[in-house]
Amino acid sequence: MIQASIAGIGSYVPSRVVTNADLMKIVDTSDEWIIKRTGIKERRYAADDQACSDLAYFAATSALEMAEMEPSELDCIIIGTVTGDHPFPSTACILQEKLGAKGAMAFDVSAGCTGFMLGLSIGSNMIKTGQFKKVLVMGGEVLSRVTDFEDRGTCVLFGDGAGAVVLTAPDDSGSGILSTHLESDGSYADMLNIPAGGSRKPPTLETIKNRKHYLYMEGQITFKMAIRTMTKIGNLALEQNGLTIEDIDYVVPHQANWRIIEGLAKKLGAPIDKVISEIHKYGNTSGASIPIALDEAVRSGKVKKGDLLLLTAFGAGYTWGSSIVRW
Ligand code: UT7
Repeated sequence: MIQASIAGIGSYVPSRVVTNADLMKIVDTSDEWIIKRTGIKERRYAADDQACSDLAYFAATSALEMAEMEPSELDCIIIGTVTGDHPFPSTACILQEKLGAKGAMAFDVSAGCTGFMLGLSIGSNMIKTGQFKKVLVMGGEVLSRVTDFEDRGTCVLFGDGAGAVVLTAPDDSGSGILSTHLESDGSYADMLNIPAGGSRKPPTLETIKNRKHYLYMEGQITFKMAIRTMTKIGNLALEQNGLTIEDIDYVVPHQANWRIIEGLAKKLGAPIDKVISEIHKYGNTSGASIPIALDEAVRSGKVKKGDLLLLTAFGAGYTWGSSIVRW
């Protein structure tokens, strides 16, 4: 049974391009290392006056245009983000005001790079139950603001951007979200986090001096778990829908590292040309990476009406999720 249709998709990346050569001026790294170990050639950083809701606004507008929908028609706005405009209120509420989407309920969800998948699951299930009819689901991040440019192991990985889909009640075309699956394991919470700035360690001169307000990651554990969990939940989605990987036209994975994407494709048994990746251009944009990659694939004509897609994501928590979508 289809949970919800996707009436429109959109994305936005800021215009400032940061190449590997640019990062070589800041940390001890090389273009060769970054490309070989991650596949990333460049990424985008937000302008100084751009916050998460500003990037989200452009992506949302683009998705609403494709859906031929006015913002005022939205019942609900959900943004997956860990780099919102403020600790509170939600970035979704700020976006609601920017869009003029009066009457919608707006909230953020926190699942790291799985944030968009979590929003997709909540939004499509809200439509399935009949609670809402038109839901904007987004992933948006300004990771450059929490990147530690003294840590070469993480600072080369991340970029900024936003992606959006507009969900509506399913029509009889057979297109839409067939299923969503979600899991988490909080025993890995310390492996990928921002250590200070919350109620555990409020900001002090000491936390700032010790660089505890920047993103921290245990790279190798995160790498292994990303491949393991995205494979597991990708296969779960296939099984629950009575599908095999041969039925899937494209896999759209979270874009964290090209070697993770290759490892995932191998374990799923998917030929690499069936995997959509924009990692070389944008790096890891966390919760925004799947809708950005899918939007570009749709707009370039690569993903066509009727194609069957497997989306699979992994992020801080650790959290992971998947979805089968008939485009
Ligand atoms: O979106 C959430 C999920 N995120 C991820 O899934 C990311 C997962 N992790 C990764 O992608 C990889 O672990 C990294 C790309 C972060 C690191 O790659 P790695 O192959 O695991 O490298 P490593 O940490 O084992 O480091 C190998 C070497 C070390 O040098 P030594 O000790 O062997 O001399 C590092 O110091 O590479 C060095 N290194 C670098 N060298 C040049 C680490 N970062 C850099 C760098 N440039 N930027």
